[in-house]
Order: sequence, then C-alpha cells, then structure tokens
Amino acid sequence: MSAKSISILNMKGGVGKTTTTINLAIELGETHNKKVLVVDLDPQFNSTQSLFMYTYKNLDTYFSLRDSGKTISSILSSGQNGVTRSREGRLATANEDSNIIHSLTDNLKILPGDLALTVEANSASSIKLKNFFRQYQVKNDFDYIIFDCPPTWGIYTTLALDMSDFYLIPTKLDEFSTIGIDILTQKIEEFVYALDEHKSLLCLGLIYTLTNRSRSQKGISRDQNVIKNIVERHFSEELEESLRSKVIPFSPILPFYPSIAHKSAVYSEHTNIPLLQLRMNDITSEIIRRCENPNMLQLEIIHS
Ligand SMILES: Nc1ncnc2c1ncn2[C@@H]1O[C@H](COP(=O)(O)OP(=O)(O)O)[C@@H](O)[C@H]1O
Ligand SMILES: [Mg+2]
Repeated sequence: MSAKSISILNMKGGVGKTTTTINLAIELGETHNKKVLVVDLDPQFNSTQSLFMYTYKNLDTYFSLRDSGKTISSILSSGQNGVTRSREGRLATANEDSNIIHSLTDNLKILPGDLALTVEANSASSIKLKNFFRQYQVKNDFDYIIFDCPPTWGIYTTLALDMSDFYLIPTKLDEFSTIGIDILTQKIEEFVYALDEHKSLLCLGLIYTLTNRSRSQKGISRDQNVIKNIVERHFSEELEESLRSKVIPFSPILPFYPSIAHKSAVYSEHTNIPLLQLRMNDITSEIIRRCENPNMLQLEIIHS
C-alpha cells in the first residue's frame, strides 16, 4: 500500500475545508473500506475536534493525548533526532512517538492538531514531519492521507503540498471566494514552477460548497451560476497550463443548510438532510476514480 495524499486547500476560512476533510475521510473509511489518515495542519484544529467528538462524543481523549505530548506539534517541535517532548517536558520514546497517530476507528486514524502550532512554525518543522513519515513508513499503512490546511499560505500549507500528490479546492461561489481562489492559484503556480521534475502535484478538482438552494440552475442561485461560469472559464482558459493540471469541478454541489450551520458538520449525523451525505458519497467515489486514474487530470503534452 502506498497512500495517495491529498491537501484540502483554499486561502479563505469558512469555505468548507474542514467539513470536506472530515466527511471525505469518513466516507472513504466507512463506505469504501479504505484506510485513511487525517493530518490536521490547521492551528485551529477543527478537524481534530470534529473527529474526536464524532468518535467519543466528548474531547476528553483528545485532551489527555494533548497533555502527554501526542499531537502533531510534538513532531514539528521535536529535537534534531526526532525525539518528541510532552507538555510536562517528558521525552517520548521512539515507540510512543509512532503512537502519535491515533486510531479513531478501524479505518480512520488521525495525527491530531494542536493550537500550539500557532507558535511552533519554523522551517525545520517541515523536515521533521517528513522524517516522521519516512521513519515510520506512514504511507505504507494507508490508502489515503488527507491534510486539512489553514486558510493562509505559509509553512503548513506548503508542507502539506510538498507531501501531497493532489490538492482539492472547496469553494463558495461569492466574489470574495473568487479572490481567494485567484490568490491560491497564483501561489500554487509558483509552487508548481519550483517543483522537482520527479514530483507530480495534480488538482483533484473544485467542490462548490455552502451554495444557496434554489429549484432552478441545478440548485444554485443565478448570481452563483454567473460566478461559477467565470471561475470555470478562468481555469480552463488561463490557468491549467501554469498549474500543469486540469481543473475539473465536481458536478454534485454541497448546499448550505442553516439548521447545521453551527453544529458539527459530519453529514451522516444529520439524517434529516440525506442530500448532503448522498452528494458527498458521489464526490468521494469520483475522488477515488480521479486518484486512481491521474492521467485524466494530466494535461496532454503537445509536441510541436
Ligand atoms: N452544508 C452546510 N450547511 C451549513 N453549514 C455548513 C455546511 N457545511 C459546513 N457548514 C459549516 O460552515 C462552517 C465553515 O466550514 P469549515 O469546514 O469549518 O470551513 P473552513 O475549514 O474552510 O474554515 C462551519 O461552521 C461548518 O459547520
Ligand atoms: Mg478549517
């Protein structure tokens, strides 16, 4: 097994990155029987909180792991030799170190996030996480690794991309979000341009989230449809070449339901709105298809 790694990206907060991360992870694990690891690289650690709540119904387990130094920040801030230190300053042994990956269910594991990430970012952190993955051959234990990223371009986002084969962009369809996508794609362009020729980084697609429901226009408002067309034209006419990847939007869109806006957004827990889970299920099947057939995302190289 060698996991396919996916970064969930957008330069804006509140567009559904974390919701996409957790629901994709749950669908892959529970519906498709895939082994999944979620890596929470957002200092707000919302995917950690949501997945621990989903599994244990409270955060006690998370807090006891955090207090004994078993979150991602202890890897990122570990010493040169990869030895990690708990909150009480206790050194973790190599064996404890590998246990930082916590099993939530048979198929779903997490490298829990931590608010401490806000202060612990430095350039050595990236090397430490990569060393951790290499040392414990983490990719061999999973089918999919999903990185939940912060809403900014910085050390954690570039680290996630560096460790990923694919990136997935959840986006709302409003003007601010299109600006966010513009900034994001500029950054990815620069990143892809500087990539080692052996590394491939493909766009897995755009997921339209939190859309207004309406009976017409496939469930989105007229204004949102205008923005959708602008975004899609922008990608196909201008960006695909510099991103070195096709950008294929997912046709199922994820509408906004006010009743769940401030709740945990694990779709399978909201049985009164089966549409969300159904759509996520379709998106997940399509994600598997794209990951297994990366040539459908590659640009054809035209030899002149
Ligand atoms: N389909 C939905 N309908 C209503 N609210 C949703 C839906 N999906 C997610 N949310 C809520 O939207 C907010 C932002 O989503 P989140 O995934 O945290 O975004 P991000 O990670 O990009 O900041 C969260 O409060 C989440 O619970
Ligand atoms: Mg988030």
